[in-house]
Amino acid sequence: MTAVFDLADVRYAYRDTPALNGVSLTIEAGRRVALLGANGSGKSTLLRLLDGLYFPGGGTVTAFGAPLTAQSLADQAQAFAFRRRVGYVFQNADVQLFNPTVFDELAFGLLQLGLPRAEIRARVEAALEAFGLAPLRDRAPHRLSGGEKKRVALASVLILDPEVLLMDEPTAALDPRGAGEIIGMLSALRDSGRTVITATHDLDSLPEIADLAVVLQAGRVAAVGPVEDILADRDLLARTRLLMPHRLG
Ligand SMILES: Nc1ncnc2c1ncn2[C@@H]1O[C@H](COP(=O)(O)OP(=O)(O)O)[C@@H](O)[C@H]1O
Ligand SMILES: [Mg+2]
Repeated sequence: MTAVFDLADVRYAYRDTPALNGVSLTIEAGRRVALLGANGSGKSTLLRLLDGLYFPGGGTVTAFGAPLTAQSLADQAQAFAFRRRVGYVFQNADVQLFNPTVFDELAFGLLQLGLPRAEIRARVEAALEAFGLAPLRDRAPHRLSGGEKKRVALASVLILDPEVLLMDEPTAALDPRGAGEIIGMLSALRDSGRTVITATHDLDSLPEIADLAVVLQAGRVAAVGPVEDILADRDLLARTRLLMPHRLG
């Protein structure tokens, strides 16, 4: 198994607020991993480190066998190669969507890659169909519903065919139908061979979107295991504030 990410004793603090306090973790290629943890446990910070948006104050992040550092990403060729391999879906779709139409939103990244126009058109058409976005193709992304925005944001990343997909609470703030549509899209990635890392609180949809769960607590890894084992460990879920006491039993 090749490791996509290898973290050794990673520490990160926002000024005086420690967010990650010694995280060591290996994520193998093709795994679908859920990052679980209560609010403030460090999920978003960890995702940003994996995406090379932040760099650790201590410890090391290795991506695809090479150190992921400010220096490595300062090199344009290395940064371009890394960005092609790793896609990030922000928690807030509004920061991801900025094109005048859904069609343009999906075409944007492909245009950046300099692909021929005919190929871009064909890939966008295929993605509009595949993600159920064809009826929205001429709509303005910023005027869509929350669930629709999220689908467009996810499609705009998947159309670039990244090896690794990082997602921060993709179903948070969505109504049940919107959340269900996103879960469906993520569930369809099961056999894509992609590495998918999703920060989430949503235990109910966990088996559909992940095989392995990493539980964070106060910036540390409290547990790592198959999703079914983590879900069965009611003590762990209560201790890490993933489950309300009344649901124990
Ligand atoms: N921009 C920020 N400035 C200061 N502290 C932050 C910032 N973002 C997160 N934190 C703090 O870092 C810790 C981890 O936060 P975060 O990674 O956002 O956790 P989660 O995504 O699990 O809710 C928390 O204590 C949080 O308050
Ligand atoms: Mg978060």
